[in-house]
Amino acid sequence: MTTSTLTKPAAADAGSTGPYAARIHHVSKSFGRPGARQQVLDDISIDVAPGEFVCLLGASGCGKSTLLNLVAGLDAPSEGTIETPGGRPALMFQEHALFPWLTAGRNIELALRLRGVPRAERRPEAERLLELVRLKGAYGKRVHELSGGMRQRVAMARALAQDSQLLLMDEPFAALDAITRDVLHDELTRIWQETNLSVLFVTHNVREAVRLGERVVLLSSRPGRVAREWRVDIPQPRRIEDSAVADLSIEITEQLRGEIRRHGQH
Ligand SMILES: Nc1ncnc2c1ncn2[C@@H]1O[C@H](COP(=O)(O)OP(=O)(O)OP(=O)(O)O)[C@@H](O)[C@H]1O
Ligand SMILES: [Mg+2]
Repeated sequence: MTTSTLTKPAAADAGSTGPYAARIHHVSKSFGRPGARQQVLDDISIDVAPGEFVCLLGASGCGKSTLLNLVAGLDAPSEGTIETPGGRPALMFQEHALFPWLTAGRNIELALRLRGVPRAERRPEAERLLELVRLKGAYGKRVHELSGGMRQRVAMARALAQDSQLLLMDEPFAALDAITRDVLHDELTRIWQETNLSVLFVTHNVREAVRLGERVVLLSSRPGRVAREWRVDIPQPRRIEDSAVADLSIEITEQLRGEIRRHGQH
């Protein structure tokens, strides 16, 4: 059913810009002044193939957000290189980070404007994206009028408005209740299948990683290293309660527990 450890991602799809959507190549990252440096990431190499859905899993504080920020270009690695040949990736965080004084539609249009979409095309495109995340009719709603799940849908539509080939997601559903999260997992899987996006999805939730990913990469802590990876050969759409999802989750959780024990935390 599943194979483990360090298989190379599949070769490039036809028409893609390169053999990978993101290449993280021997990346290390330290913070702090000389003499008081903290190494957070150590020699991490991960390729994300075009159209691939990769989940990055690890304990709190192991450096997942740090790595995602490096891929987003928000910070630079101390060593190693990161390439995203398709251009600037789109980002989605745990907090929706929508502008509260703008409506749902206007939040999306802002991203379209920054991308250079002509004014006349912005509204229909924003409506199309809202429909894609199943929020038809929410164009004129202000952020405070939307539920948490609806806000994350708008945030997803705004990320998609950037028209990037690579979507970086940092625990985007962590603050939602289990049922809303379940629905958004289905939506994300559907959108990923419809758009052929590459996704690098950070989570500390093993089940979520197995529910969503084609590949799950487990990071160790202090410093963060690639501990192991799994290919998830369970057909989509999966359900979080599927027995195959549960079985692999148990295996991965065991490994994650081992990592946490080894580093004496949590
Ligand atoms: N800009 C920074 N300056 C100094 N230290 C930092 C900085 N960013 C992150 N760190 C440190 O790097 C380590 C990893 O942080 P990071 O936020 O990447 O972890 P994480 O895996 O995303 O955790 P969580 O699951 O809780 O979100 C932490 O010890 C954090 O304090
Ligand atoms: Mg984080």
